[in-house]
Amino acid sequence: MRIDIVTGLPGIIKSPLNESIIKRARESGSVIIETHDLRDYTHDRHKTIDDTQYGGGAGMVLKPEPLFECIETLQKQREYDEVIYLTPDGNRFDQSMATELSLKENLILLCGHYKGADERVREALVTKEISIGDYVLTGGELAAAVIVDAVVRLLPGVLHNSTSAMTDTFQDNLLGAPVYTRPPEYRGMKVPDVLLTGNHKAIEEWRQEQRMKRTKEKRPDLLNE
Ligand code: ADE
Repeated sequence: MRIDIVTGLPGIIKSPLNESIIKRARESGSVIIETHDLRDYTHDRHKTIDDTQYGGGAGMVLKPEPLFECIETLQKQREYDEVIYLTPDGNRFDQSMATELSLKENLILLCGHYKGADERVREALVTKEISIGDYVLTGGELAAAVIVDAVVRLLPGVLHNSTSAMTDTFQDNLLGAPVYTRPPEYRGMKVPDVLLTGNHKAIEEWRQEQRMKRTKEKRPDLLNE
């Protein structure tokens, strides 16, 4: 899979995608992630990527020209499945969307900033609009990092244990079961006996019960979806 991230602030996005599991996924070739600085697609001395909005009002708007030039340059090089614009008024991101995106070959993630991108970019280039939640960030870069993280960990071979992603919270609309590690007793608090038995069938049943119990307690809304 290949992900191209288009941004006016490449510094924000680079560091979270250069650590731990995502870093290893890039090194092993499971994913190619490239960041593109919109300033490289400007032609004025000041490398201007934004401007005031027509009609008045606070906040700068990303200019269409650098965005069109950057995205069209990429589209000449390969075919993209989606051009995704990160915006608080997009469709809410969730685990099923992460799974869907993990099956794609080439994605462009476009980070809005300030007041957002000129509407003509959305109309002409964007195929999907995604929000990571009902709150407003200063830009789409952190949202892009969240999406890349959630998608890349689902790619084959990225997590050591391939069943790990299958038993995640939200995969089949249930929260995950509680997890424990050594020691078996700590400050009087014991690990549930069943987990120490080595009886895989009993452990699996216990985990399934716990997932259901947790979901009912913490997120009953998931059971009605
Ligand atoms: N840009 C600003 N806020 C955002 C959000 N909540 N989701 C995605 N992109 C954003």
